Amino acid sequence: MPEVTPVRAACIILAAGSGSRLGAEVPKAFALLAGEPLLAHAVRKLLASQTIDQLVVVAPPDWLGQAEKVAAAMAAGQASVRMSVVVGGAERQDSVAAGLEALADDVQIVLVHDAARCLAPPSLVVRVADAVGAGHAAVVPGLPVADTIKRVAGSPGGRERVAETVDRNELRIAQTPQGFDRSTLVSAHTAAREQSAQVLTPLVERFGAAGAAAALAPLYTDDAEMAELVTDVVIVPGDPLAFKITSAQDLAYAEWVLSRER
Ligand code: CTP
Ligand code: MG
Repeated sequence: MPEVTPVRAACIILAAGSGSRLGAEVPKAFALLAGEPLLAHAVRKLLASQTIDQLVVVAPPDWLGQAEKVAAAMAAGQASVRMSVVVGGAERQDSVAAGLEALADDVQIVLVHDAARCLAPPSLVVRVADAVGAGHAAVVPGLPVADTIKRVAGSPGGRERVAETVDRNELRIAQTPQGFDRSTLVSAHTAAREQSAQVLTPLVERFGAAGAAAALAPLYTDDAEMAELVTDVVIVPGDPLAFKITSAQDLAYAEWVLSRER
């Protein structure tokens, strides 16, 4: 029988944010949930999917050692999974770029996951990786929107006005892990950087480097948005357990979810 080269999958797990909205004394990925850092929960769920060959944790510079400890503890007994920890950047996009640099040569499928979505279940990880394996270059887990959504038009100083009611059947809440064919994700990041540079030059002239960076910061809040510049992005069903821990209330909810799971 001819030897089949297995398709290798890696996950970049983003833990380099500060967690300003959570307001804990430590970066959000190191806040404790049932006595363990969010990062540890996230890594455990990813490993339980048994679809990941390499895990790259992206950590804040001052938390590299802690992240290495968590990674080493979780890697015990998982000899087949390559683990590494790298330093992240100022924006989520920069942290993903740092993770991309650490990918092993033979990796073809790349998942990008928020450590803050630490209860995303193994079945979701498998669903996303399988969709990429089946030939979709960019895959996002999406959930339907329960609320009615209004688009508003700003009126400076006055009340906002409803410009329109958006058809919620056309909307999805985007979660992570998001999955990509490796070269597509790399081109998406390059395209995004080029686009940012085009927008940046006039902004720097007007507002200076710091002002321009602040203006650009919210440009890309997920990887799929960058991928949309270069390819079709498909949706697979998301999972309510992949909610993002943003506020203290979300952390309390996660505690409750875990207590029911155990
Ligand atoms: N993240 C990252 N590097 C950054 C910013 C964010 O790795 N420069 C990661 C966070 O650690 C998190 C995920 O991206 O797992 C989603 O970001 P978010 O929920 O916004 O986390 P924070 O930026 O840490 O939180 P906040 O926006 O409240 O400060
Ligand atoms: Mg943030």
